[in-house]
Amino acid sequence: MKLSLSRLFNALSFTALIFVPLVHSVAPKAEVSERGMVASRSAWASQVGAEILDQGGNAIDAAVAVGFALAVTYPSAGNLAGGGFMVIHLNDGTVITNDHREKAPGAATKDMFLDASGEVVKGLSTKSHLAVGVPGSVAGLLSVLERYGTMDRKQVIQPAIDLAANGILLDRDLAEAFARRQKDFAPYEASRAVFSKDGELYEIGDRWVQSDLAQTLIRIRDGGRDGFYKGRTADLLVAEMQSGNGLITHQDLEDYEPRWREAIRGTYKGYEIISMPPPSSGGILLVQMLNMLEDYDLGDMGFGSSEAIHLMIEAERRAYADRAQHLGDADFYSVPVTQLTSKAYAKKRFADFNPSKASLSENIESGKVPYESLETTHASIMDGMGNAVSYTTTLNLSYGTKIVARGTGMLLNNEMDDFSAKENAPNFYGLIGRRANSIEPGKRMLSSMTPTIVRKDGKPILVTGSPGGSTIITTTMQVILNVIEHKMSLSDAVSSPRFHHQWLPTRVMHERFAFSPDTRRSLQSRGHNELVPLPPRYALGDANSVMQGEKGIEGMADPRNAGAAVGAALVAPLVESQAATK
Ligand code: GLY
Repeated sequence: MKLSLSRLFNALSFTALIFVPLVHSVAPKAEVSERGMVASRSAWASQVGAEILDQGGNAIDAAVAVGFALAVTYPSAGNLAGGGFMVIHLNDGTVITNDHREKAPGAATKDMFLDASGEVVKGLSTKSHLAVGVPGSVAGLLSVLERYGTMDRKQVIQPAIDLAANGILLDRDLAEAFARRQKDFAPYEASRAVFSKDGELYEIGDRWVQSDLAQTLIRIRDGGRDGFYKGRTADLLVAEMQSGNGLITHQDLEDYEPRWREAIRGTYKGYEIISMPPPSSGGILLVQMLNMLEDYDLGDMGFGSSEAIHLMIEAERRAYADRAQHLGDADFYSVPVTQLTSKAYAKKRFADFNPSKASLSENIESGKVPYESLETTHASIMDGMGNAVSYTTTLNLSYGTKIVARGTGMLLNNEMDDFSAKENAPNFYGLIGRRANSIEPGKRMLSSMTPTIVRKDGKPILVTGSPGGSTIITTTMQVILNVIEHKMSLSDAVSSPRFHHQWLPTRVMHERFAFSPDTRRSLQSRGHNELVPLPPRYALGDANSVMQGEKGIEGMADPRNAGAAVGAALVAPLVESQAATK
């Protein structure tokens, strides 16, 4: 394998990370409730979910309501025209996942993002109508509600409709995010209309009403999936595509189906790890890395010790090398799931680990197995009846393509960038891929989303996951290890500083206070020469998590951002339903 390491090194720019105002300087306390808990990036969405629990809904009803609410109150990643994954634990022990990842349109081709000389055309897979995958969120949320929810469509969608139609008062988080993105929205009339007041910046405290989006939600409420994949919404989406040389047709929309998939299961020191299978790489890599680490006593080494960090970096290096070679949509490519997640494979793969020396990424080929991929958002939900849902959803990059489809109020995803546009050419996150993740019509692009539930004795004890592109998997793993190995409280587990390595680019990124000066020196002495601290105000991940605690269900919104954990029975009604929207 010949790779230009310097090109790959530069590929993952800091813009791929989450730019966040750090609103707390110390870990705040987790919320606690016996009746259920919702932790998400949006306080409005978390409250909607908690109200659903208060009304007697289960975790599935709440998760679906949170999904629709996030599309209104957290537009950079919450979505109707994107995709996501849900990992569900039912109180009878059943575990199932729902894959509503976007798909390549029927007219997509392997080389659609290459120029005549075979080079990747910069920006085509992120900032154009061609970047848009066939959306899956609406079909997925509705199928989950239908199979495992207890409420009807109207009950779970109406709060989102009310938030869009009545408007929300913009907080600093949203007002500043809109201001930062004005240049990106400027080329698109409908995007300007949603995210500015006739070209003037929204200010903190302004009421932000999304009338077109409310109408789209009403069509979904009244028509179900046909309210999105057929009729007026579909017509508007296809018209938007045609106006910008996009590929999605009526047929693509009608053909979209979410998939129920068996979860990836692993174990770690007596805990059961349940996560997302392909087209996510998250579950496989999480289990694979934990398998490599299981023989070591990370707890004894101590949080933040160079010994533990070295070990984790080396597990990450090997697992991400395997991702590039072996992972893609298993409906199109034979992914060696069993082998990659087996303890025996991990042992063999980690046999060359040297506790005193870093490996070189260029010497780490993908493992040989017999045979036979910023912005996203994560919500964690547990109800008081023993059900749990781990839910990650995305438009890919922040605000997706930045294109609002005219008349719908919906931002379009740019998920096509999660495909490998060309062998070994890095995508936005610097991830490389090969045939397993090449573009084919109807195929789902590889994801890093890692919605995860950790169980002990068959009961969910931790629900976690994160946004952050390629960094999702390592963030999720660190939260899990903080709980299991370092015995941290949920608050500490979510708040503690994080780092990330992904084989290529070769550097190790870390939050500013993740590595002390002597830890850095110790890592450098082992050969970890590219330790790159993130600039102030940049962070890794947003791991809104829920955990079964001694006093009840604890919820913790990641303090790196302005989300909230809201417990059932702790909320007063948030939104007055508006008669006009009924
Ligand atoms: N679009 C980010 C991911 O799915 O990994």
